[in-house]
Amino acid sequence: MTTASSRWAAALHAWAIPDDILKAAPESPWGFPPALFHAHEVPSSTPSRRRAVEALPAGGSVLDVGVGAGAASLCLVPPARQLVGVDESAEMLARFTAAADAADVGVDVRAIRASWPEAADQAGRSDVVVCHHVLYNVADVVPFVRALTSAARRRVVVELTAEHPQTALNPLWRHFHGLERPTGPTADDAAAVLEEIGIRPEVERFSGPRRQAEVDRKDLVAFARRRLCLPAERDPEVDALLPENAGLPRRELACLWWSPGSA
Ligand SMILES: C[S@@+](CC[C@H](N)C(=O)[O-])C[C@H]1O[C@@H](n2cnc3c(N)ncnc32)[C@H](O)[C@@H]1O
Repeated sequence: MTTASSRWAAALHAWAIPDDILKAAPESPWGFPPALFHAHEVPSSTPSRRRAVEALPAGGSVLDVGVGAGAASLCLVPPARQLVGVDESAEMLARFTAAADAADVGVDVRAIRASWPEAADQAGRSDVVVCHHVLYNVADVVPFVRALTSAARRRVVVELTAEHPQTALNPLWRHFHGLERPTGPTADDAAAVLEEIGIRPEVERFSGPRRQAEVDRKDLVAFARRRLCLPAERDPEVDALLPENAGLPRRELACLWWSPGSA
């Protein structure tokens, strides 16, 4: 029987890059360049922020899974006073702790370099667990989400783009490699996985800010070129074809939130 979680995993596996293209790639197409992620670009009021704040007690704690530079959690201080950030990337964690220091808001920060859900024991429990723009990287999504739920005392808030963020590069894959790329999964598919494991998420859709306002075009072109498995000398061609906001979280976003008791 096909389940929502197996459909999710299959849709993500469909993004695998054919071996011949991967072997010819000058550098790994995976990973996130820290230059494209900033903590200070989040507007003060999004559904994701509001849903986290309304569940937070004064002085409360937040666990941010896939913290990056801290965009999902630094904007929760105050009322939060304790932040735990988990990320696989040391460079992202350094940005997170530097941004927390620079904000100078009197917050107690703990950074854990590890993968989720393996980091769950080390991270412990927090009042609110946030996880923004990570789910499309997670093929084995059920243990990931269950661990988010177990780590939350009051609420889990997940934010993701309505569509897989890499779909914006699909015309470029066609142009450079003659390759048709997938279009799924979507935020609706993520909600279906949650329902399948007994979580009834509230789903709020909203139009987010255009992240590229903070991003240097040449960093964006380099990111797309790396994802496309091309050498740096193709940058001018990539630049000519790359839509304004390609490869970054697009404007159409979804906030999925639930309380641990509902799972
Ligand atoms: C697209 S960035 C989003 C960062 C931040 N949450 C934001 O919204 O700006 C995804 C981050 O999740 C991290 N990441 C992806 N999968 C992870 C996992 N299984 N465990 C821990 N970190 C993960 C990446 O290293 C990266 O920093």
